[in-house]
Amino acid sequence: MWFLKRSWRLRLLQFIAVLGSLWMLSLLSPLKTGRSAAYIRYQWLEYTDDDESPEKVCNCSAVLQGEKEELRKAKLLTITKDFQKNIHIPDEYYIHAARDCRFVLINHRKYITFPLSKEEEEFPLAYSMVVHHKRLLRAIYAPQNIYCVHVDKKSPASVFAAIKAITSCFPNVFMVSKAVNVVYAGWTRVQPDLNCMADLYNTSTTWKYFINLCGQDFPLKTNLEIVQALRSLKGGNSLESEEMPRGKKKRVMNAYQVVDGQIQRTGKTKDPAPFNLPILSGNAYIVVNRGYVRSVLEDKRIQALIEWAKDTYSPDEFLWATIQRIPGVPGSTWPNRKFDITDMNAIARIVKWQWHEGSEDSLQSVYPECKGHHVRSICVYGAGDLQWLIEQHHLFANKFDADRDPIAVYCLEKYLRHRALTE
Ligand SMILES: *[C@@H]1O[C@H](CO)[C@@H](O)[C@H](O)[C@H]1NC(C)=O
Ligand SMILES: *[C@@H]1O[C@H](CO)[C@@H](O)[C@H](O)[C@H]1NC(C)=O
Repeated sequence: MWFLKRSWRLRLLQFIAVLGSLWMLSLLSPLKTGRSAAYIRYQWLEYTDDDESPEKVCNCSAVLQGEKEELRKAKLLTITKDFQKNIHIPDEYYIHAARDCRFVLINHRKYITFPLSKEEEEFPLAYSMVVHHKRLLRAIYAPQNIYCVHVDKKSPASVFAAIKAITSCFPNVFMVSKAVNVVYAGWTRVQPDLNCMADLYNTSTTWKYFINLCGQDFPLKTNLEIVQALRSLKGGNSLESEEMPRGKKKRVMNAYQVVDGQIQRTGKTKDPAPFNLPILSGNAYIVVNRGYVRSVLEDKRIQALIEWAKDTYSPDEFLWATIQRIPGVPGSTWPNRKFDITDMNAIARIVKWQWHEGSEDSLQSVYPECKGHHVRSICVYGAGDLQWLIEQHHLFANKFDADRDPIAVYCLEKYLRHRALTE
């Protein structure tokens, strides 16, 4: 595996480090003591300054409070070569980890893998994790949850094998039964989630909610906060689902196909959607109950919709939103426009689009300017975005890049860990 590109190795390392720590902790028996007594025993799980952490040189509390001097320092650090080198885990970890679960156990023990509360234990969640080209996931983990991992078929065989080896160390993390080759904006952006839904639904865990993640997502809430937010939905789903903007309609009126890994028009126009289903606009990220997933797998109308959607453009941006408005789907709402919900009002994901950024006193802007950088007009968060992010009601944020801005990911992770242990 030495021959793998450095970027691949680093992402894989992160992934392995995360999973490894999970397994280690899953061996600990759940603590039956009360919260305050338990806290003393949890303390060793908190990140401390003697880790190979950026905290030695950068103060996360100050970063989270948006202190300008600290943010300036963080920005400078991020572009320093020495710093970049220091915070990356050495290659040997990855090599050993891929071979031997026990190595992982000994070296990473920073993740919580026993239920921190009865409330969380009784409310298991199902995650579909799409880990593909340039996107490896910093996982969020709790032992009562269940995780389906999809690795893009295009990934080098050794990456695939290593992730598979690591997932097999955990009873509640598994590789999807059918991997696909993901093409941007094509049908195959949706298929991994569908495959994971089928696999997750067929496990013995009676999880309550389904959440899908990609490698550049990161949580903004602890598992307990996620559980509480989901319970307060009272069986409802939370995802963007609104009238399709005029400019996007061609995506479902024309037929598309993938040629040489690129999506392009075939020249044919499409029939209207089956059962006259109104097509709504949304995004790839959803928070849905078990019944929604059952409908996706079993409802004849949705099966027909899925078949119909296979030659459309970017089906991830309408499929879930459309299903959410089909009468009879558990947790759905009526297709009437009065039930439209935007990405800002749904709790599934916060994504900052460049054209919606601006100052607070501008009537047009939706959120403050990106403090990191943009990729395809989406903000890749910097440390300076954290203060605003953690105030949002969304469960997860997209996008993070631990290579470009490690301090943002590090400080957010540390903040969440501290919350999880003190809640
Ligand atoms: C980190 O920043 C916080 C908030 O400004 C401050 O209270 C604290 O003393 C700082 N810690 C260190 C070690 O400098
Ligand atoms: C569910 O799992 C069982 C084995 O555990 C398998 O035989 C069956 O085909 C699976 N069903 C689906 C729909 O994947």
